[in-house]
Amino acid sequence: MNANFAALSYLIASVFFILSLQGLSSAKTAQKGANYGILGMILAVGTTLMNPIVGSYGWIITGIIVGGVIGTIIAKKIQMTALPQLVAAFHSLVGLSAVSVAAAALNEPQAFGIGAPGFIHGSSLVEMGLGVVIGAITFTGSVVAFAKLQGLVSGNPLVFKGQHFLNALMGILLVIGIAHFAMTESHTTFWAMTFLAFLLGLTLIVPIGGADMPVVISMLNSYSGWAAAGIGFTLNNSLLIITGALVGSSGAILSYIMCKGMNRSIFNIILGGFGTEAQTGGPGGATTDKPVKSGSSEDAAFIMKNAKSLIIVPGYGMAVAQAQHALREMSDILKAEGVDVRYAIHPVAGRMPGHMNVLLAEANVPYEDVLELEEINRDFGTTDVAFVIGANDVTNPAAKTDPSSPIFGMPILDVENARTVLFVKRSMSPGYAGVDNTLFYNDNTMMLFGDAKKMCEEIIKSLEE
Ligand code: TAP
Repeated sequence: MNANFAALSYLIASVFFILSLQGLSSAKTAQKGANYGILGMILAVGTTLMNPIVGSYGWIITGIIVGGVIGTIIAKKIQMTALPQLVAAFHSLVGLSAVSVAAAALNEPQAFGIGAPGFIHGSSLVEMGLGVVIGAITFTGSVVAFAKLQGLVSGNPLVFKGQHFLNALMGILLVIGIAHFAMTESHTTFWAMTFLAFLLGLTLIVPIGGADMPVVISMLNSYSGWAAAGIGFTLNNSLLIITGALVGSSGAILSYIMCKGMNRSIFNIILGGFGTEAQTGGPGGATTDKPVKSGSSEDAAFIMKNAKSLIIVPGYGMAVAQAQHALREMSDILKAEGVDVRYAIHPVAGRMPGHMNVLLAEANVPYEDVLELEEINRDFGTTDVAFVIGANDVTNPAAKTDPSSPIFGMPILDVENARTVLFVKRSMSPGYAGVDNTLFYNDNTMMLFGDAKKMCEEIIKSLEE
């Protein structure tokens, strides 16, 4: 294929990827964004396959078929709540492929047009060194993140003495290793660096707790992008450089947004320690004997039917219960009764960015009813009912009042300002951060104990009666 034609085709694919990212920034345009991404990828892969450097298609076609079938099965089967660990698993593959490409380029440099064995260009050696180190850290780091989120190992931070010193030492050794490799093209240094980077991926991620894992995953996403960009330089492939940089920078921006939503500093997260499992004691997790008011679905139906305005606050529990369809049906009935129904979305509700938006969109909740924290937070004071369904931490006033709380400083939805607060959850257990929520004991709170989906279905029945 003509080199100019390939360059033009790669350029068009890059534009599709940029349009794809732009589309994915809003639930309204996400489908369009995904389609742009697919088009860009077809063009990118097609153009690469037509490159005369491709010697045979046997392995490539086998890989595409096997990978495509596995990917389709996983995509069809995966539960929405398991997406974060799936993303971690996929990132591990990106890291591993960066390591594999660097190893292949070291052994067969002529096939990559970067010199001959023993005479690889200095700049290519630096790129390969960086690519293999970042790729190896991404691989083992993502495997640990996957294992923690999947519950294969404890989600608790694993902290040991001298950890930061050990990590810093390995980091310095890796920098020296890259310099040595660039000067000598030593295979021993290459493999020693790879081994050390695999180890560093492990020791960097094990001290990080489960609650911080999504931020880590997005950081690893960013790393995998930079690893791909590094390999793009080795392969002299402009598209890989551009896509790697897009993934690298969007992952970094996403990590920043999540940190802001949780009011956590990225360094704090990297140093680990937050996100242990629920620490509150007692049956059901409650730490106090204060009485709580609990009600039934009939009570909830009566209160909401007689309200003028209702704000629904969904959280992780709605996702677990897959309650979004029943919830929409409930709000449709209330709307028909003349109630003004809106949804308030906290930036880190659920377990991944946009988690709630995706579920509500799946249930065809109108986009204009779904508002972000800063758009709606002030309205709770003039709202009759806040219906909190499977959310907890994102409403916890301890984030504003208790400096010793692990969530202190996180912006929260001020649901307690509503005239009545209804909390749908199964027990008094705390949320992900393991902190008791004092709102449960407020006079204007009514707990609706039960599974979120079942509760919505029962409320619908009561509303219809
Ligand atoms: P959480 O605070 O985790 O609370 C979820 C609540 O849902 C739990 O208290 C649980 O109580 C309830 N629940 C679970 N299954 C349920 C079911 N089947 N039916 C009804 N209720 C159910 O959730 P949140 O308010 O969405 O806050 C998110 C948390 O995750 C924050 O701490 C946030 O920092 C953290 N986090 C989020 C992200 C992103 S990007 N979204 C990333 C990292 C960390 P019961 O067990 O009593 O039912």
